[in-house]
Amino acid sequence: MITLPKEGTAWPELRERLREAGRRDIDWRGGRLPMFIHYAGDDVLEVAKQAYLMYFSENGLGLRVFDSLRRFETEVVSMGLGLMHGTADARGTMTTGGTESIFLAVKAARDAFRKKRPDCAEPVLVLPRSAHPAFDKAAHFMSLRTVRVPLRADYTADPEAMAAAITPDTMMMVGSVPAYPHGVIDPIAELGAKALAHDVWLHVDACVGGYLAPFVAQLGEPLPAWDFAVPGVRSISADLHKYGYAAKGASTVFFRDAESFAGTGWHFDNWPRGAYFTNTLVGTRAGGAIAAAWAVMNYLGEEGYRRVAQRVIHTRQVLQEGVAELGLKTFGDPRLSILAFGSPQRDIAALGKGLSERGWVVGYVTEPPGIHHMLNLTHEPVAERYLSDVADVLRELPVRGGGGAVDARY
Ligand SMILES: Cc1ncc(COP(=O)(O)O)c(C=O)c1O
Repeated sequence: MITLPKEGTAWPELRERLREAGRRDIDWRGGRLPMFIHYAGDDVLEVAKQAYLMYFSENGLGLRVFDSLRRFETEVVSMGLGLMHGTADARGTMTTGGTESIFLAVKAARDAFRKKRPDCAEPVLVLPRSAHPAFDKAAHFMSLRTVRVPLRADYTADPEAMAAAITPDTMMMVGSVPAYPHGVIDPIAELGAKALAHDVWLHVDACVGGYLAPFVAQLGEPLPAWDFAVPGVRSISADLHKYGYAAKGASTVFFRDAESFAGTGWHFDNWPRGAYFTNTLVGTRAGGAIAAAWAVMNYLGEEGYRRVAQRVIHTRQVLQEGVAELGLKTFGDPRLSILAFGSPQRDIAALGKGLSERGWVVGYVTEPPGIHHMLNLTHEPVAERYLSDVADVLRELPVRGGGGAVDARY
């Protein structure tokens, strides 16, 4: 058992130990990791790091005294709402990540639903099969229930089937931009119409696409409307620590109007230390994460985000075309940074094993079995190498392997 050392250790030695500890980690810079990292260049990383360090000790819980953080957060929220067509009445807050953003949206929707249906013992969230587990986690923590509805053949949410799943107990519907498993964008306009018709709160989970889709659209890709421009969308989660390229611990959650946003707030004063109020799930928040998000957004600006988006999308197209030439099919029509591919004629587990043996970390999807990538700039220089390794592995595998369950850890 490791116990706290009796005496301290000097920083140079600790730095060496920290370095040493990382030696067996995956070298994500080499582009062999298809998840967890969102890299937009060393210059962006440096801005985020420097800004984080400048506000390392400050606390986002204390906006009353940290005027700097209050300003950064207000401006980050305003910039985000601007990208997502929020009107003057729209509101939002920074959070520590996608999961917290989703928790807050679910909590606000539940409180609004309670006013309508105080007698409902177990409010229900109607989710597409592809929605992120954070919705089930939030439901579990708040004693709510989820129903997952099968996808359409193109792996997008099925608005008709979701509408059919709505009952008087339904408190929320969800669509994703994009959904993590197949990277496809759900039909938010149709979901919005159903949400309005049934008077149900629609949340758009744009944790992945919130800070990517606007720039892909600016590049001329005809993306369907998905944000507050769509009637019926009540809240949106959008992660800054993914394609906002901020330091980890930064996301945003937005609400169509001040009344919906009020549901995130929590007030308490029945203890001996006075009134306590937060808009977030957590109390203390890293000032560095707020400052870094502000700095990166201002460093890149629209032009910078567009430039990075163009390269990420190009990498996805290279991979998509490359795997197609090798007889593998991309699932659905991914338009952003995630793609998943496979083939019923190929043993995907064996393909993944071959790629792992060649040094690639492999992400999988299970329905149908396939290989999964969430792309960033580390993948750009190695895309051709990856494809040639896929070709090598396939050459060694029999066609019509089929089947083979994949070990799809997140
Ligand atoms: C679509 C989607 N929603 C939510 C999340 C959760 O985000 P976080 O891991 O920051 O809590 C993710 C994470 O990958 C995601 O892909």
